[in-house]
Amino acid sequence: MSSNPYASGNFAPVDDEATVTALAVRGEIPRDLAGRLLRIGPNPVAPGENDHWFAGNGLAHGLRLRDGKAEWYHSRFVRDDQVCDARGWPQTPGPRFYEGASGLANTNIIGLGGKTYAIVEGGGFPMELDDQLDTVQCSDFGGTLQSPFSAHPKCDPKSGELHAAVYFAGWENLQHVVVSPEGKVVRAMDIPVPGRPMVHDCALTENYFIVLDLPVVFYPPAPGEEGGLGSYRWQEEYGSRVGLLPRTGTADEIVWCEVENCFVFHSLNAYEDAEGRVVLDVVRHPKMFATNLTGPGEGPPTLDRWLLDPRDGSAKESRISDRPQEFPRHDERLVGKPYRYGYCGASGTEGLYGGLLKHDLETGECLHRDDGVSKQYQEAVFVPCGDDADEDDGWIMSYRHDAERNTTEVVILHAQDFLGEPVAVIDLGVRVPFGFHGNWVSDA
Ligand SMILES: [Fe+2]
Repeated sequence: MSSNPYASGNFAPVDDEATVTALAVRGEIPRDLAGRLLRIGPNPVAPGENDHWFAGNGLAHGLRLRDGKAEWYHSRFVRDDQVCDARGWPQTPGPRFYEGASGLANTNIIGLGGKTYAIVEGGGFPMELDDQLDTVQCSDFGGTLQSPFSAHPKCDPKSGELHAAVYFAGWENLQHVVVSPEGKVVRAMDIPVPGRPMVHDCALTENYFIVLDLPVVFYPPAPGEEGGLGSYRWQEEYGSRVGLLPRTGTADEIVWCEVENCFVFHSLNAYEDAEGRVVLDVVRHPKMFATNLTGPGEGPPTLDRWLLDPRDGSAKESRISDRPQEFPRHDERLVGKPYRYGYCGASGTEGLYGGLLKHDLETGECLHRDDGVSKQYQEAVFVPCGDDADEDDGWIMSYRHDAERNTTEVVILHAQDFLGEPVAVIDLGVRVPFGFHGNWVSDA
């Protein structure tokens, strides 16, 4: 029996890729949903005892919906070097950010410029996949990407540009990278920092790009030490601050706002209030990688609001919800704008996975969808019912593990009937391991 918590239950990797076309559906799939519900997570081809959860080879998942039908579910390995060697597949072509980079990409999966990319932070280029999720090539966005990328670019709903915070263990700076809707880098601006922090996410407002500079920092490995992800550790004295960078500004224009020491993987959203202050909502972990070096586990994460003033660099911190939660999402037509609703995963018996939460940030109401201990949701995705639909008038879609049947279903709820019967449940007939992130990539 393995002592690695990420090797058992629904964290355990599946052995093979799957193609399922006979999908049983309960209820009715909304006919306006035409596209693919993509997600990705780690699925190591050779799991070890002390592996970091974040280091497993990427397995991409996709459910294709059209005309009220579920056409297929696919799972496909992102073909990094280790996967290709293990399976006897030819190596994946395309550039790598540094010599020896494996091509691993396991953290998020997005549509951009008509293509599909598996993306990761800290050193890997994006891996381009085809519509069926088969790996095409390692991509530097047509020669325009001179840095690694991020797993959490934020899409400006007006311009369609992606904004990302980028880092690399070999660098003493971060970078603000902007990618055009066609998939070409149009800006790469260095941000000096006092160490080599792990920067998982970022945020965007009308006028600012928001940088998280928090105390999980790269320690150069000692002789004989392996290095890698385990080299990112909590460093109390590094401190915690948030940088407000004017979107087209330079690093010397950043206003840094100090916050209480903590770690944030994910922002929910950010916007500017009437007084020009930045409201930043985050899932806050009290610490990270201080005692547990193979995955998140340093106390319960909470949903917090930080009010950051670019005039004096002050920060006011408050708690929106102390219920343990992660994987925050919202209506992404409102990235960087005032918004009312957030949808998060409620931590449950399976660590970060359990029910779903819906936050009304105006009234403070929090709805908890709990389908029982045997049913655990992965990160939810919100898809508006139409281009002009109101905020919250849309579909919540999520891959939900059924521990009793050891299989996974995709659940579609109407966000305004968050606790009610799902409008559709699609039985995939196979297991989708607990993973990281996903998105709805519409055909339109
Ligand atoms: Fe993430």
